[in-house]
Amino acid sequence: MRSCEDKAVKVFDAKLNSNDELYSQEKLLDLSVGCDGILSSLTDKLDEDTINKLPGSVKILSNFAVGFGNINIVAAKKKNILVTNTPEVLTDATAEIGILLILGACRRASEGIEAARESSWKWSADYLIGKQLTGTRLGILGMGRIGRKIAKIAMSLGMVIHYHNRSKLNADKENGATYHKELKSLLSVSDVLSVCCPASKETVNLINKDTLEYLPKGAVVTNVARGDIVDDEALIDALNRRKVYAVGLDVYKGEPNLNPGYLKHKSAFILPHLGSATKETRTAMANLAINNLEEFFKTGNCKNKVN
Ligand code: DGY
Repeated sequence: MRSCEDKAVKVFDAKLNSNDELYSQEKLLDLSVGCDGILSSLTDKLDEDTINKLPGSVKILSNFAVGFGNINIVAAKKKNILVTNTPEVLTDATAEIGILLILGACRRASEGIEAARESSWKWSADYLIGKQLTGTRLGILGMGRIGRKIAKIAMSLGMVIHYHNRSKLNADKENGATYHKELKSLLSVSDVLSVCCPASKETVNLINKDTLEYLPKGAVVTNVARGDIVDDEALIDALNRRKVYAVGLDVYKGEPNLNPGYLKHKSAFILPHLGSATKETRTAMANLAINNLEEFFKTGNCKNKVN
């Protein structure tokens, strides 16, 4: 993404993090001295303490992600710092990974890949039998842009779509999916669950010991949104008890570490937060994050503000 860095340097007097170094709070604060804005990534933890210590010159945090769980937007607001994100441009790429998680978990891709690499397999009529998607009910938790795109692709695979959202969508956006006002109601019909909602105070550990019990026995749980939404111990316990048949995960609490309990399960299809990882999408995200800064410095506002 050299071209995006070039653009940033052309438009602003920019300090680049060319080696993608994970800055300590101290280094981040040092580097922000004299800056009017910060283009942050989801690995930059801009919590309340860090935001309170930022120099007064910083007026905008332009996050290079659609999610902004790495930023305390309330603390930013109190300090009169605008926070922006990069919606829409990563919908398709993230939905592709959402579908890959469903396919990988249902069709036992982790076990298949391992066996193929080790040549330790023999075709037989009942070898590595997985779950077929055709006719299977897909529960989408969070029917925003990414959830709707996953629903559209899943429908073309013959899945039957159900969703839970804060509010019911209009028929156009719903596209034949069945709305569930209550999360428990959605879970009770989710042969496969796709977690697509943003991480927030309300959604932390929404998938937990109690809510998992509402799933049909042998359900598949996938998460393309944020690790914070899932209580890992509860999900691993559900895998151990075979209440949950398989999981497909791209995001984790405390990334890049993940709960080692998942590694014990062959039925865990796990990826390293690849949701938006295509050249087209990352370029579009970087351009949008730069444009958000430009818009703010020109107008004092930004259409992609989140606080
Ligand atoms: C986002 O933008 O929130 C994605 O998770 C980044 O891959």
